[in-house]
Amino acid sequence: HSVAVLGAPFSKGQKRRGVEHGPKVIRDAGLIERLSNLDYPVHDFGDLSFPRLEKDEPFMHVPFPRTVGTANKLLSGAVSSAVGAGHTLVMLGGDHSLAIGSVAGHAQQCPDLCLIWVDAHADVNTPLTSPSGNLHGQSVAFMLKELQDKMPDIPGFSWMKPFLSSRDLVYIGLRDVDPGELCILKNLGIQYFSMRDIDRLGIQRVMEVTLDHLLARKQRPIHLSFDIDAFDPSLAPATGTPVNGGLTYREGIYIPEEIHNTGLLSAMDLVEVNPVLGASREAVEATAALAVDVIASSLGQTRLGAHATLEEIP
Ligand code: ARG
Ligand code: MN
Ligand code: MN
Ligand code: MN
Repeated sequence: HSVAVLGAPFSKGQKRRGVEHGPKVIRDAGLIERLSNLDYPVHDFGDLSFPRLEKDEPFMHVPFPRTVGTANKLLSGAVSSAVGAGHTLVMLGGDHSLAIGSVAGHAQQCPDLCLIWVDAHADVNTPLTSPSGNLHGQSVAFMLKELQDKMPDIPGFSWMKPFLSSRDLVYIGLRDVDPGELCILKNLGIQYFSMRDIDRLGIQRVMEVTLDHLLARKQRPIHLSFDIDAFDPSLAPATGTPVNGGLTYREGIYIPEEIHNTGLLSAMDLVEVNPVLGASREAVEATAALAVDVIASSLGQTRLGAHATLEEIP
């Protein structure tokens, strides 16, 4: 098996600048070298380049709809070809609106995929429920079949159709959910684990129930969409919408370790690292290093390290 790394320097799913530099700082934190210490070939496909649109009027209070839609169409094609070529895909964001294209492209190759969304936020607002209008808080709403009649026709998104069933999605790490989003989560019976649930159950039980929920009926490809703001802001300060009370380092690493252990990870996103919002160079480097740890753990790096064979030890 081989890994494909694809950068998506894009920020128009929200209004703050800087998150488009996420791929660069994650690479600078040594991503490719860390992955090459694991056991399979790593292909770095570089960064996509997204078209700048001349005119992109807001849709209701949603800014840059065509820019976001067009970028995600491009990304979905690139993800689909990488997964189709047999690679495990790692998408580096960029803001979380990119999950629309990433998961859609993955689903083109793997229609029976399931989705694990690790985030402080549910990102399941529709343009009508969204308090901010920002598309990075609406990604999941574009995917869910059950929300089809709640979604208006947003310019820029005619290339895609909802493709995910609400039972094939699990959230981990929630602690800042908007009222409309909570209504959607409850109404559709979506499986989620808030930070409070993690406090009650422990991360080990949370992962057991998560994987059982998604895989008990049948083994299927997993898409992991990891927003760095799932971590506590003390660990991941360089991000656009930090929320107190997030994952510890050990919880945030245990999640990808368990996903790796299923052998079913097929594609992942690591999004919302924003170097412009770090208070210092150290804050930015710590956030990027954490992103590298999550990606490496997803792909098989263990906390015990690699082990030598008997023949190798003197
Ligand atoms: N729920 C808020 C909104 O809709 C915040 C979303 C934050 N999303 C993110 N991917 N960081 O605007
Ligand atoms: Mn290859
Ligand atoms: Mn978030
Ligand atoms: Mn998010």
